[in-house]
Amino acid sequence: MRRTGVFFVLLVLLVVAAGLTFVAYQFNLSALNEPGQMETRLATRVKGWIVGRSARGSLPPAPPSNSSSVALGEMDFMGVCATCHGMDGRKPTDIGRWMYPRTPDLGSPEVQQWSDAELFWIIRNGIRLSGMPGFERSLSTTQRWQVTMLVSHADKIPPAVRKALNPD
Ligand code: HEC
Repeated sequence: MRRTGVFFVLLVLLVVAAGLTFVAYQFNLSALNEPGQMETRLATRVKGWIVGRSARGSLPPAPPSNSSSVALGEMDFMGVCATCHGMDGRKPTDIGRWMYPRTPDLGSPEVQQWSDAELFWIIRNGIRLSGMPGFERSLSTTQRWQVTMLVSHADKIPPAVRKALNPD
């Protein structure tokens, strides 16, 4: 009876080891391939759940959302976010485009569905295992809120401004 138990455990370990070896051989570390649909869907679900839950905690109060806040956010954005998200946040640069996962268009419905509190949380903490840095230590709270306001208005940038920011 005991022998059968030991044999069974060894068999399970062997199957797990064979499975891991197979996955390790198949795994492709390159960032060039488009992220798979299943992977993206699963990662997006998990991200949505974790960010939603984390952003429920206490956040510093937001300054009044007015146009000067958005304009000031633009100045910060050009300095620190444009490297990956592009000058208007809507057209990722080559660096951003070829990160894994890809740097998103901040005006897309996927990004616009976040609440202001969730955007603030993402900008403050970043997203681990992606290229999105956390700005807790490099931007002040006011700057982070200004950038948050800008991101939450990214789908409303007038075409003339977009054209001026992306001349090509
Ligand atoms: C070094 C490149 C890089 C820089 C700089 C950067 N980002 Fe990102 N950002 C990313 C990547 C890559 C993602 C995708 C993360 C993911 O898919 O989970 C991302 C995701 C985001 C998201 C969440 C989108 C989503 O739906 O998951 C927001 C919001 C965002 N960035 C805003 C900003 C802001 C604002 C700044 C500047 C303060 C900034 N980012 C700077 C690379 C960057």
